[in-house]
Amino acid sequence: MRVLGIETSCDETGVAVYDTSTGLLADRLYSQVELHARYGGVVPELASRDHIRKALPLIQEVLAAANTPLQGVDGIAYTAGPGLVGALLVGASLGRALGMSLGVPTIGVHHMEGHLLAPMLEERPPQFPFVALLVSGGHTQLVRVEGIGRYSLLGESLDDAAGEAFDKVGKMLGLEYPGGPRVAALAQQGTPGRYKFPRPMTNRPGLDFSFSGLKTFVRNTLEQESDALGGKALSEQVQADIAYAFEDAVVQTFVIKCRRALEATGLKTLVIAGGVSANLSLRAGLQAMMEKQQGQLFYAQPRFCTDNGAMIAYAGAQRLAAGERDGLELNVKGRWPLNTLPALGQTSI
Ligand code: KG4
Ligand code: ZN
Repeated sequence: MRVLGIETSCDETGVAVYDTSTGLLADRLYSQVELHARYGGVVPELASRDHIRKALPLIQEVLAAANTPLQGVDGIAYTAGPGLVGALLVGASLGRALGMSLGVPTIGVHHMEGHLLAPMLEERPPQFPFVALLVSGGHTQLVRVEGIGRYSLLGESLDDAAGEAFDKVGKMLGLEYPGGPRVAALAQQGTPGRYKFPRPMTNRPGLDFSFSGLKTFVRNTLEQESDALGGKALSEQVQADIAYAFEDAVVQTFVIKCRRALEATGLKTLVIAGGVSANLSLRAGLQAMMEKQQGQLFYAQPRFCTDNGAMIAYAGAQRLAAGERDGLELNVKGRWPLNTLPALGQTSI
């Protein structure tokens, strides 16, 4: 089954063609980062309008790259939530209209299920069951995964998502949006041990997270250092040392909580997914922990960690191939808890 996937939940237009027998055939991404950078964050209305401009040309480009005429598409998957409703509606309307005109089934995909399954696109995919750490700009969750659609939430962030914390710290350091990759790059120049930041909620049992206190700690440290210089700008080295301490606190928090989640579930496989799973220090920290635990760590290649069409085409293809289809209504969801999804093949329309 050959599936066209369309992702428009936030500020990237992602399109891909996935074939259930031959794998990923083509994928393209158009990022709106430049459009939003001057506002320091995503402006929803601008995002929707840009998806409208870019989605169709991108679909044509991807189909050509996949050597697939429109009539060769057997099904269409689009992101139905969670995300910005206006942006989601662009992909959903396009997907549904194309599906109807071609007479092929469509399916609305959960964006976080897309992220969660993205490591399945790799040559060495993880096997179920596993623990998944989902870390994106909007979500931070630990999930027990028994199979597609068989998710139980083990823990989540009570306030900011990890990517959001990275982005806000980036802003404090005067870095451009999105701050995550830039904070990570700056942290590489940082001196280990120069600052030590708290590892939130690791001293008590449980698998939930909180990053807003850590963010405030960064702000206070920046202010103290600036006061000590009589209000003068901080040197690049001090900024790098602070970025390092922040990133290290986030990584160590995830190491502790992931180890705890594996112990609690008795599982030996950990999957990390979502934009922050592209972070090299996080990968290295978790890899070291998993080696000690004699378990295995899986993640997607960097371009499939952040938003992309391939993960939506893949997740949609699995569900379409199992017989799931959209109903007649056009439905997108700004909020959509992951654990309300039906197990694969057990949906009622
Ligand atoms: O999954 P994603 O592309 O979009 C959402 O679904 O939210 O995640 C985007 C988030 C942003 O907050 C971005 O700053 C963060 O992932 N991010 C990173 C890195 N690459 C992307 N954070 C830390 N280190 C990175 N290398
Ligand atoms: Zn995402």
